[in-house]
Amino acid sequence: ASSRKVRHFIDIHLLDAGSLRGMLDYAAALKRAKQPEKPLLGRTLALIFEKPSTRTRVSFEVGMRQLGGEVITLTGKEIQLGHGETIGDTARVLSRFVDAIMLRTDAEEKLHEMAEAASVPVINGLTDKSHPVQIMADILTFEERKGPITGKVVCWSGDANNVCESWIHAAVRFDFELRVACPAELAPSAETLEWVRRNDGRVIVTRDAEAAVAGADAVVTDTWVSMHHQDAERRHALLKPYQVNERLMGLAQKDAIFMHCLPAHRDEEVSTAVIDGPQSVVWDEAENRMHAQKGILAWCLNT
Ligand code: CP
Ligand code: NVA
Repeated sequence: ASSRKVRHFIDIHLLDAGSLRGMLDYAAALKRAKQPEKPLLGRTLALIFEKPSTRTRVSFEVGMRQLGGEVITLTGKEIQLGHGETIGDTARVLSRFVDAIMLRTDAEEKLHEMAEAASVPVINGLTDKSHPVQIMADILTFEERKGPITGKVVCWSGDANNVCESWIHAAVRFDFELRVACPAELAPSAETLEWVRRNDGRVIVTRDAEAAVAGADAVVTDTWVSMHHQDAERRHALLKPYQVNERLMGLAQKDAIFMHCLPAHRDEEVSTAVIDGPQSVVWDEAENRMHAQKGILAWCLNT
């Protein structure tokens, strides 16, 4: 391994605004380019999934290949991670074989443990706490439709979950207003909101979805029951008032966009009319996962 500092992509709040913007600029340039570049020729990415995935897996696999690289995907209990050997030992071994590691896991501590021991970049492919690669694709999608996100207003209505956490980090780093409408029981952590305050961020947390969505440029939500949640019945009851439907969308800007990281549950967190309607950009958002991954990979591998 070289002595140069390894470029991990762990969380948006741990990265500076210039690096994040650079990743998105490169992602957008690659998306526009007719003749794809192959800057990662001969490099290998390992993907480790301790939870299911469709978009993250396929977008990293295809994106890495389009950049000229190779991919190895390891899922579930088929490897020794955290069972037969420590996460640190797995990280040290994988670092001898591959050029970057993406990990989707439950506890964020596992990701930190992997990054500390790895001598190659480690990328967060979702934890119970955050989902930063998703929000990079979301910013790309927002800006394609609405122009620079700086100074705009984004409203999150629903569970202040891992995806919301990364939106909060992004609001500070990309300098936009984020209004989080959620039940008090499912609000962002005090620690995260304290970080926002220390960084002069504009993140408002309210129980009033109608007030939060008023005049917003984008309305965003996610599943009421994430992969790590067990209390589905309680969550449905608490989150029902936060459903994004035509009535709620009608309070946002007339040309506001609707975003959702997917997978979606129609007529739960979002009405069928909204997700399948003209304001929804969810399929572009899914496609942009791949373009964003390319920007992230190129930055991590310093090309
Ligand atoms: N949005 C997202 O991360 O989807 P997958 O769980 O399918 O990867
Ligand atoms: N909040 C969801 C996101 C899935 C991409 C989950 O963690 O299950």
